[in-house]
Amino acid sequence: MSLLSERSLSKEDKSNIITLGAIAKEEKLKDKSVVNATIGMLYDEDGKLFTFKSVDKALNLLTGDEKYAYASTPGSPKFHEALKKWVFRDDYELFKDNSCVMATPGGSGALSNTFANYANVNDKILLPNYMWGNYKQVAYENNQSFATYNLFDKNGNFDIEDLRNKMIELKKIQKRVLVVVNDPCQNPTGYIMKDSEWDKLIDVINELSADGTPIILLHDMAYLDYDHRGFIATRNNIKKYLKLNKSALVVMAFSGSKTFALYGVRVGAQIAVSKDKEVLNDFSRANKFSSRSKWSNTTNLGMSLITKIIEDKELKLEFERELEESRKTLALRAKTFLDEAKKVNLTTLPFECGFFITIPANNPEAAYEYLVKKKIHIIPMGNVLRVTISAISVNECKMLPKLIKEAIDSTNK
Ligand SMILES: Cc1ncc(COP(=O)(O)O)c(C=O)c1O
Repeated sequence: MSLLSERSLSKEDKSNIITLGAIAKEEKLKDKSVVNATIGMLYDEDGKLFTFKSVDKALNLLTGDEKYAYASTPGSPKFHEALKKWVFRDDYELFKDNSCVMATPGGSGALSNTFANYANVNDKILLPNYMWGNYKQVAYENNQSFATYNLFDKNGNFDIEDLRNKMIELKKIQKRVLVVVNDPCQNPTGYIMKDSEWDKLIDVINELSADGTPIILLHDMAYLDYDHRGFIATRNNIKKYLKLNKSALVVMAFSGSKTFALYGVRVGAQIAVSKDKEVLNDFSRANKFSSRSKWSNTTNLGMSLITKIIEDKELKLEFERELEESRKTLALRAKTFLDEAKKVNLTTLPFECGFFITIPANNPEAAYEYLVKKKIHIIPMGNVLRVTISAISVNECKMLPKLIKEAIDSTNK
């Protein structure tokens, strides 16, 4: 007999990443030669969790209050301004009065609040067909479901046509659309949308919201700061939001887990951009309510750390230098993996940079089992295998493609 409510009977965490990650971690503790390419965290070349020295320095400068006191539900104005400075950088002045920040426990909290407040019960959230699986669970938790758009067209470019068609379909039925775009360094593919693709996306949003229909773009920017092109390229796309008309709203989901490697501290934010003050006031009011009801407030520790790093000139410079180094490490791992993949004819989905490389497979579960026997742990999901290159060394990136190719070939039969 189950005592769960009707809706909760079917609740089961389908994202196997945490479960398989825990298995891999345990195996690695027993045997150092195990390759753990599962969970999306950055590790150094010696297999230790990567931490920024500048973040540690900031930690030592915080007072007891800054670390342990309750924070206010939306987070402090200081945190809001610091985060705006970080995300908008040179365009801070352009955006500071057209944007509003709500602190959340990681990007996950930002997704949860945005789904809850910008799509109705029973609405479908529009998600990419290759995606971070937790989006689906967030939708279910909010009494919603989802539809998908093709991330890639047949040439491996962002499929704006399919996205537009799906948005039109949902607009007809729901009279509003909430669409999720995860860029740059998309999870799981590592794709980066081109400038022209961002332009087209903005055009489509403006086209469909021109009659006053609310069109909400949830820009999941978890990997924003790992784009190998650096700050200027990523912030150029953000600047395009100023072209959106009044019934369109952008909510960015910022992750302190990824940018500052503060995974377990649980800090992030929703950052809304709109020219309409009423839209921003609504955003603040409803999301404050949601946050208060779900987690009450975000960790003061996380917010104080981020504020300190951004506001202290020297710490910020040091942090940016370290970030640049970590981007280079990731780029080297990716290049090593892709060069080897080419040699052994292992196909990957379009990749530019980031924490993951994804490989199409007919039978990912069987390939996973095959690889586990060889002490290699990656993630089977849908019809792909996801390799977390942020968690493995350059040498491991060199050795993996051949073994994955073997696994796919012997399990495709
Ligand atoms: C695409 C994407 N979005 C959001 C998140 C949420 O991360 P967090 O809640 O730790 O900020 C993740 C975490 O892996 C992710 O991969």
